[in-house]
Amino acid sequence: MGNIALTDVIPQDSLERQLYFIEKCKAYVADLQEKLGRPLTCCTQTFGCQMNARDSEKLLGILTEIGYVPVETEEADLVLYNTCTVRENANLRVYGRLGHLNGLKKKNPHMIIALCGCMMQETQVVEKIKQSYRFVDIMFGTFNIFKLAELLYSRWTQEDQIIDIWDSTKEVVEELPTMRKYPFKSGVNIMYGCNNFCSYCIVPYVRGREKSREPKEIIMEIERLVKDGVKEVMLLGQNVNSYGKNLSVPVTFAELLQEVEKIDGLERIRFMTPHPKDLSDDLIDVMSKSKKICNHVHLPVQSGSSRLLKLMNRNYTKEHYLELVDKIRSKMPDVSLTTDIIVGFPGETEEDFEETLDVVRKAKYDSAYTFIYSKRTGTPAAAMENQVPEDVVKNRFNRLLETVNEVSRSISNRYEGTVQQVLVEDVDDHDASYVTGRMTNNILVHFPGSKDLIGTLVNVRLTECRGFYYMGEQENA
Ligand code: SAH
Ligand code: SF4
Ligand code: F3S
Repeated sequence: MGNIALTDVIPQDSLERQLYFIEKCKAYVADLQEKLGRPLTCCTQTFGCQMNARDSEKLLGILTEIGYVPVETEEADLVLYNTCTVRENANLRVYGRLGHLNGLKKKNPHMIIALCGCMMQETQVVEKIKQSYRFVDIMFGTFNIFKLAELLYSRWTQEDQIIDIWDSTKEVVEELPTMRKYPFKSGVNIMYGCNNFCSYCIVPYVRGREKSREPKEIIMEIERLVKDGVKEVMLLGQNVNSYGKNLSVPVTFAELLQEVEKIDGLERIRFMTPHPKDLSDDLIDVMSKSKKICNHVHLPVQSGSSRLLKLMNRNYTKEHYLELVDKIRSKMPDVSLTTDIIVGFPGETEEDFEETLDVVRKAKYDSAYTFIYSKRTGTPAAAMENQVPEDVVKNRFNRLLETVNEVSRSISNRYEGTVQQVLVEDVDDHDASYVTGRMTNNILVHFPGSKDLIGTLVNVRLTECRGFYYMGEQENA
């Protein structure tokens, strides 16, 4: 990468073009650094889901390649917010923090403030920032994150706010540097976008149509990651079960998993998110036979009411969902099951809500992400009548939390006394003579150990369940 000729003819090829701008930015940063007599720092903040987290690793990869030193504090020379708009409070958090950034920028005239991600795909958001947040230097969306160096260079060479938002994937440049948060585990995009249009959800509008990557590209990426020390991958897509349907040679998600399983040196495979409407028997079969696929299924139910599920456009019923759970449990008896639930979807009655509580009790989730319905402009549900009053929703939300906690408490100690394989992630926050890791069921365990265990797989006997996590002791090999 370092030996690209700095001609002033901008290359046409997308990858070459970005490498060209990376070199341009590098020279600019080196210059400014010398002038200021200190390194330039950058701070990236991720809002939202695993997709965004993975995008942020790519963005940070470009920034560090350019010469920025990553720091935790927002008192940095470049602050980049990778935003989420799935619920309104994700938006509000960004606006809330922008005011603070403006204060920091007044003290540091070299500071660059950049916004990207899902919020930027909404025209009203971009308009608002253009009008009321003039100090924001760069805005780009979800489809062109690979252009960061080019946009940054444009900002340095012209005075104006730089805005570059695409409305669909025109091209994907995957080969740029990335900077992983963890050396030993990584997300891997297997598909982009979503075609499901659940009636409450904004993701299809801000992430575009579903597009699967070629299996061989995915395999090559994972092989490279494994060579670089990765033990665990998380295959990412908004609905991984529809992976591969539109490829020129169609491939199923179950088939992809079998190929990934064959990669030497890869120890663990996770995936997010399977949609209940098309979770196949083949997939359950492949999971139950696999040595690498983790013992955890995150299966968002959203609601237990078949009537609401229809209005949500989820394409399954309560009965179908519960049958699916039974099938999964019959093939993987000690699987850990988690879910997402929305409370207060328009028109939700007390009876609908009780159906949701019933599913929580029957499916016996280890944990659940619970959300209050948030009206997203442009989605079909936003125009529905009978929005549920706030106090009713709050009351249901609290009752749901109680039920989720009750259920998870009643089953949480079921692994006590067993020996489980743990991927060690970090030194314990509270006691430096302990380390923390994850079992294949995604549950955390803390046990005595030193930091050299980080990134390794060890067998741990679970001595005590403490609610959502376990304490344990390393078994002698
Ligand atoms: N593709 C994934 C979900 C991605 S969004 C799936 O279909 O399962 C993550 C979660 O956010 C969803 O599962 C849903 O529970 C929640 N969510 C999405 N839109 C929402 C909204 N408008 N209000 C409240 N929660 C929402
Ligand atoms: Fe949203 Fe539904 Fe797509 Fe998930 S499957 S991202 S909830 S539209
Ligand atoms: Fe949020 Fe975008 Fe993910 S809206 S949940 S960051 S796809």
